[in-house]
Amino acid sequence: MTRPLLIAGNWKMNKTVSETTAFIDSLERKLPGNLPLTVVLFPPFVALSSAARHIGRIQLGAQNMYHESSGAFTGEVSPVMLQGLCRHVLLGHSERRHIFHEEDAQINRKLRAALEFDLQPVLCIGETKEQRDGGHTFEILENQLTRDLEGLSVAQIQKVVVAYEPVWAIGTGDTATPRQAQEVHRFIRTLLENRKIDSQRFRILYGGSVKSANCRDLLCQPDIDGALIGGASLHVDGFFDIIQKSITVEKLGG
Ligand code: PGA
Repeated sequence: MTRPLLIAGNWKMNKTVSETTAFIDSLERKLPGNLPLTVVLFPPFVALSSAARHIGRIQLGAQNMYHESSGAFTGEVSPVMLQGLCRHVLLGHSERRHIFHEEDAQINRKLRAALEFDLQPVLCIGETKEQRDGGHTFEILENQLTRDLEGLSVAQIQKVVVAYEPVWAIGTGDTATPRQAQEVHRFIRTLLENRKIDSQRFRILYGGSVKSANCRDLLCQPDIDGALIGGASLHVDGFFDIIQKSITVEKLGG
């Protein structure tokens, strides 16, 4: 397979530093020796440096960052500060867009900064329930992608991971069906192909109420390359169960 699956846990505003390191120690002990997929955890900022001392095969990411490298931006965290602590950074998560009113232009600045400082951006896009019900899903996703990736070169876009997270599926228990998710992932891959991206080497994750009971059916889809998991990543046994199920996913074509 040209795109090994990526299973990511987005902890949002959950877990203290000691809870983070205990989780990581436990998960590292459970993971099999030859891990055929990528496991990434996105703990809160304050836990990143302790987490970085505990990881072995697990990779780390930040849940957000500011686009400037330093300066008078009280409360923000810069890409320079993240360098050396983590490899990935989540950008444009729907909670950032909807609760903190982040707009595409700002997400675009963050993407450029992440790439400049060699962080791997995981760009989240997704439509609301009203947008889906109104038949606007593809148009919304194309707009988000176009604005968020504006001005990036083909080589830069190639380094991005996209996470399709329908807003109506996040934290609701209301997962997209494998067919709905596959349809969107195929659409996103086609958009990337139109931009001359090598789409076979481009990872597109699904997020939104992924759990042990539905992960296999989603990950079996040809264009779903992994999962971004919120609630179901908070308990180590449940998250490990998802990882184990993901390991058994075999894809044709890939
Ligand atoms: P959920 O969250 O798995 O709890 O729906 C996913 C996310 O917000 O990344």
